[in-house]
Amino acid sequence: MKKILPTPNKQYEIIINNSFESLLGCVEDCFKPSKIFILTDSNVASLYLETVQKCFQDYPTQVYCIAAGEASKNLATVEKIYLAMVEKQFDRQTLVVALGGGVVGDIAGFVASTYKRGVPFIQIPTTVVAQHDSSIGGKVGVDLKHYKNMIGAFYQPLLVYINLQTLQTLPESVFLAGMSEVIKHAAIKDKTLFYFLKNAQANICSKNLETLENITYQSVHIKCEVVEADEKELGERKILNFGHTIGHSLETLSKFCLSHGEAVAYGMIAAAYISFERHFLTLRDVEDLVEVCRSYGLLAKKISYTVEDILKFIQYDKKINYGTLTFVLLKKIGEATLCQDVSLNELTRAISYMKKTCS
Ligand SMILES: NC(=O)c1ccc[n+]([C@@H]2O[C@H](COP(=O)([O-])OP(=O)(O)OC[C@H]3O[C@@H](n4cnc5c(N)ncnc54)[C@H](O)[C@@H]3O)[C@@H](O)[C@H]2O)c1
Ligand SMILES: [Zn+2]
Repeated sequence: MKKILPTPNKQYEIIINNSFESLLGCVEDCFKPSKIFILTDSNVASLYLETVQKCFQDYPTQVYCIAAGEASKNLATVEKIYLAMVEKQFDRQTLVVALGGGVVGDIAGFVASTYKRGVPFIQIPTTVVAQHDSSIGGKVGVDLKHYKNMIGAFYQPLLVYINLQTLQTLPESVFLAGMSEVIKHAAIKDKTLFYFLKNAQANICSKNLETLENITYQSVHIKCEVVEADEKELGERKILNFGHTIGHSLETLSKFCLSHGEAVAYGMIAAAYISFERHFLTLRDVEDLVEVCRSYGLLAKKISYTVEDILKFIQYDKKINYGTLTFVLLKKIGEATLCQDVSLNELTRAISYMKKTCS
């Protein structure tokens, strides 16, 4: 078992483990709750709820299970959860436990941040996205109609408990799409991890636990480092948006037929191409990124939207500040830089390259 002690100002611990055995001990090390409120979804409940409930058998526990999927991530779900908590008289010493992927984690964190003006919560992330990305950094929230993550807060958990074994049951497509964010972490911060992802692909995809532990440790560390430097996303944290500007545009255009991870992979290729044109990356670097993404089943769908369509949707990207598009480029593999002067011509050429490469 490995422990990481990073996170904004050492506020909490992230545990990486291969079982739920030490879950209770880790929780009690940081908090003695009055009651436990577990939020999970319909898929995860049938796989892991019983085991997790057993860990907390000495505490009064209630479970709330939402329908799996992004469609549950809204204020109506949040209201139902508040009511369930109020009716059972959950007090301010209640511990909210998020057991599931990013959807469950974002909702549970938002509920915890607002129920009775805030109760403690822990994350037990069970997807690649949740383990490497959404459970760390304190962003919690829900969607407002089709506006993603529009309502939310910055609220840190007491603990993030990662059990790598849970990835064994993750559908292949969800696992691979999640790897896009891991590739992103490596590309912006860690060249060694980047080439490890390239070389250890077979071990990672067969979910070898030692290899998963290794990449999780590295990638979570990167997310923590970036978030620690900029908890409220005023500067440095923006580098985590590498691939996301064009990625979001594709995700929206495809009406979510492209998953977030798949869309981000295309976005990373376009951003890498601009980095090449600016003489930061070599063409070989860009091709390496294409190769790594492809080896995880990404970039597999043909992009048939026109460059104009894709550009139009970039205007609605909420990461545009004061009319300026902040773009994340790579100075080299393992180092990112923020850039506000990417021209329309550069974007057009980059999207054309991406379309050509991924056809
Ligand atoms: N807060 C943040 O900083 C942040 C960062 C990235 C993403 N997000 C959010 O995270 C969400 C996406 O997260 P996600 O990709 O984990 O999606 P998800 O939570 O919808 O999980 C994907 C699917 O996998 C299932 N599942 C989860 N764990 C499983 C397991 N171990 N075995 C079998 N099935 C399992 C779920 O039921 C679901 O059907 C989005 O809402 C996104 O906005 C938030
Ligand atoms: Zn993302």
